[in-house]
Amino acid sequence: MRLSVEVLGLLSCFFSLAVAAPGKRDLNSFIVAERAIALQGALDNIGPDGAKVPGAGAGFVVASPSKVNPDYFYTWSRDSALTLKMLIDEFIFGNTKLQSYIEDYIHAQAKLQTVSNPSGTFLPAGLGLGEPKYQVDGTRFNGAWGRPQRDGPALRAIALMTYSNWLIDNGQKSKAKTIIWPIIANDLSYVGQYWNQTGFDLWEETQGSSFFTIQNQHRSLVEGAQLAKALGVTCTGCDQAPEVLCFLQSFWNGEFIVSNINVDNGRTGLDGNSILGPIAVFDIDAYCDSPTMQPCHSKNLANFKVLMDTFRVTYTINNGIPEGQGIAVGRYAEDIYQGGNPWYLITTAAAEFLYDAVAQWKARHNLIVDSTSLAFFKDIYPSVTVRQYNSGNANSPFAQITNAVTAYADSFVAVAEKYTPANGSLAEQFNRDTGVALSANDLTWSYAAFVTMAQRRAGQYPASWGTRNAVAPPATCAGASTTGVYVPATAAGAPNVTSTCQVNVVFDVNATTYFGENIYVIGNTDDLGAWDVANSLPLGAGGYTQERPLWSVSAYLNAGETVDYKYVRQEDCNQPYIYESENRTLTVPACGSAAITTNDAWVGPVGTSGGC
Ligand code: NOJ
Ligand code: NOJ
Repeated sequence: MRLSVEVLGLLSCFFSLAVAAPGKRDLNSFIVAERAIALQGALDNIGPDGAKVPGAGAGFVVASPSKVNPDYFYTWSRDSALTLKMLIDEFIFGNTKLQSYIEDYIHAQAKLQTVSNPSGTFLPAGLGLGEPKYQVDGTRFNGAWGRPQRDGPALRAIALMTYSNWLIDNGQKSKAKTIIWPIIANDLSYVGQYWNQTGFDLWEETQGSSFFTIQNQHRSLVEGAQLAKALGVTCTGCDQAPEVLCFLQSFWNGEFIVSNINVDNGRTGLDGNSILGPIAVFDIDAYCDSPTMQPCHSKNLANFKVLMDTFRVTYTINNGIPEGQGIAVGRYAEDIYQGGNPWYLITTAAAEFLYDAVAQWKARHNLIVDSTSLAFFKDIYPSVTVRQYNSGNANSPFAQITNAVTAYADSFVAVAEKYTPANGSLAEQFNRDTGVALSANDLTWSYAAFVTMAQRRAGQYPASWGTRNAVAPPATCAGASTTGVYVPATAAGAPNVTSTCQVNVVFDVNATTYFGENIYVIGNTDDLGAWDVANSLPLGAGGYTQERPLWSVSAYLNAGETVDYKYVRQEDCNQPYIYESENRTLTVPACGSAAITTNDAWVGPVGTSGGC
């Protein structure tokens, strides 16, 4: 008897259920269940009503409820924008309940744009937009950090543009124009002005040029030009798109994508950065040879293979998994943060990347294997050769290859499933030797990444962002810049800030310290942490010598204001902070004055190491 395809399908379905490990469901039902958990997990971390983040302001996405080791109880521009992009796409795919979160985010971000912070002020030149993270009520965070990070404005613009396009399609063009565009315009101004300056990468460790950042910046400018046209407004900065695209090409070294360039940090450059970038700029309408570097681009496929070959031998839990099978994936092989483990969000991103590539081949009705991508395909379809495969029937090589890539994608999700606790909660990382979840619990980005992966697997694709209209890069790249126009988005609730003139004040204090002790300056203004020690400015000991125990930090304070301040010692071994015994007073010189230096010497009790 010959069984029909349907019967075979049913049988194999039955069979896979029957052989599944006890208590483990098949992948489909895991994904359906986990997608719902992940969506709720993200919502639980958004103020003002998120169940896990009391104290967070409306529209602020908290990175994780974790307040110690690591303390992620802050709102990061990157995590927030990626989460909102997911929520906006979910909304567009039909989940209308999410609209209030989107509206809250719009208002929160309009205000946040104007908040002065250690990266700078909003006016006159937009520098404050490069700040990576804020307190969960939207106030500044003064602590030492890798700043600026220039992906945030691009990612926020992309999320807001997705929503704006939906508004236009649904008869609300004037709302997009008057309320949301002013926020987007500030962000695109920032991108157009600063894309060619180095900054910290998405992992907040490396100062240089980051593939993920540049790729998203390019998308934001292309999309921005189109949205501006649709709204009848001007995009300042969008003219930089071809130059950014030109620069994007320089991350490829002939074998893989070097995720951070203009750096010298002893790393290979093989980094999950190069998977997260392509999925963030995925365009279902794109051609695979588009210089926007889509998931189906040969160079990205080659890079994917080299990256997986690296991670396969990096983590014990990947031992014995053959090529062409999903593995646990992390940030980069040299990572030591929290033990340097695989991450949920990058493991599911690997799956999403492959689902994206398959979707693009199917949409183009062909896939081209070239010498660059051959090794990627060999791992999953050994008889592959360098040629074009056109779509055909279910037995065609095209169908076999795309099925093999889909199965490869599924196997990454299965790895994530294997290391997901029974309650479905997703932390940041899972242990490289044991697979046990660790680092920040309930990481919003882990949840967002699971949902976007599940969207792609279910065939839900965001509308094209216009890759086909992107202007080709010039033959020779030039490091250009367009001066931005920065205006508070008052229609969305931003305060009508005016340009604050600030003057550079260098806090220099002689303070003899033991190894492990740190010095901060704190004062009665926001710039100095408003007497909240968690928000005071850290001084650096780069100039500390035997002769002069100098601690120093360069700050910007409002011209003409009089501030009260003092220095604080942070002790080791969880001993309490030690404050200077009296307040100091400083009058900041008038607008336009040259930098001043305090030249102080510590007054008050000193500390002793706890010897822990
Ligand atoms: C905190 C950052 O968020 C993380 O990405 C980084 O690895 C660590 N700091 C160490 O620099
Ligand atoms: C550390 C990650 O490296 C960074 O990308 C992220 O923004 C923060 N944690 C917050 O989740």
